[in-house]
Amino acid sequence: MNNIPYPPLRLRKSVGPIEDSYYENPDGRLVFEKEVPATNYRSIFDFGCGCGRVARQLLLQSEAAVGYYLGVDLFAESIEWAQQNLSQTNPLFNFKHHDVFNAQFNPLSKHEFAPLETENEQFSLVTATSVFTHIIERNLENYLSECRRIMSCDGIFRATWFLFDKASFPMMQESQNCLYINVDDPTNATIYDYNYVRSMYRKHGMTITAIIPPAVRGFQWLLFARPTSKELVEAPFPDDVAPLGICRPPANILD
Ligand SMILES: C[S@@+](CC[C@H](N)C(=O)[O-])C[C@H]1O[C@@H](n2cnc3c(N)ncnc32)[C@H](O)[C@@H]1O
Repeated sequence: MNNIPYPPLRLRKSVGPIEDSYYENPDGRLVFEKEVPATNYRSIFDFGCGCGRVARQLLLQSEAAVGYYLGVDLFAESIEWAQQNLSQTNPLFNFKHHDVFNAQFNPLSKHEFAPLETENEQFSLVTATSVFTHIIERNLENYLSECRRIMSCDGIFRATWFLFDKASFPMMQESQNCLYINVDDPTNATIYDYNYVRSMYRKHGMTITAIIPPAVRGFQWLLFARPTSKELVEAPFPDDVAPLGICRPPANILD
């Protein structure tokens, strides 16, 4: 048993899965297992950390010590809870509000994009779970470039994406690379052309070194990248041959 609190249900609903098991790490394993070696847990930037789901798992990790963790999110309530409850457990874990507009979670902000404010620009792991699945195309390059800027030279950038193949959509302009599912709030889900995503990683000095296709067809792809260097080999995109299924987030999120 551990004494680390679980986030309240209201906050868990704002990030997706609500079951306790998503917040646990019963065996103290490396949270990102074999894709992220133990040495890369020394300083972690968690972009869109929500109410500290990954932070809580990292706090329970016994296989490698986390030297420093910074989580940022646009939802101030999640950040306040995490700072009050998780930083108490380990002061090396910190949470900061990232003040950008979101119709539901930060409606008063005047900014659509803001730089990632950190005192440390040498994170050995930058992780973004289900965040680029909410960033609209005109902000994408800024955020990719920011993630690259704060990485150490041996750093890993771990991010999940919804992807499609634009080759099947002949009406899309060269400047149009993202599909949206909600006309009232385009950040609800953003689905990117996979070739465009690869070209943006290249443009911003990152090489995709490993790709894990979705477990349910069309759901989250997991991409691992490193700062580009001559020795790195770019991973090819596999086909998405996962079984069909439904993976809807909770409805009526803040009720
Ligand atoms: C689906 S949740 C995932 C939360 C967390 N990464 C996890 O795995 O539990 C997406 C989170 O990203 C945050 N988010 C989306 N766009 C963001 C942005 N531009 N800047 C900061 N946070 C953002 C949302 O507020 C939300 O908490």
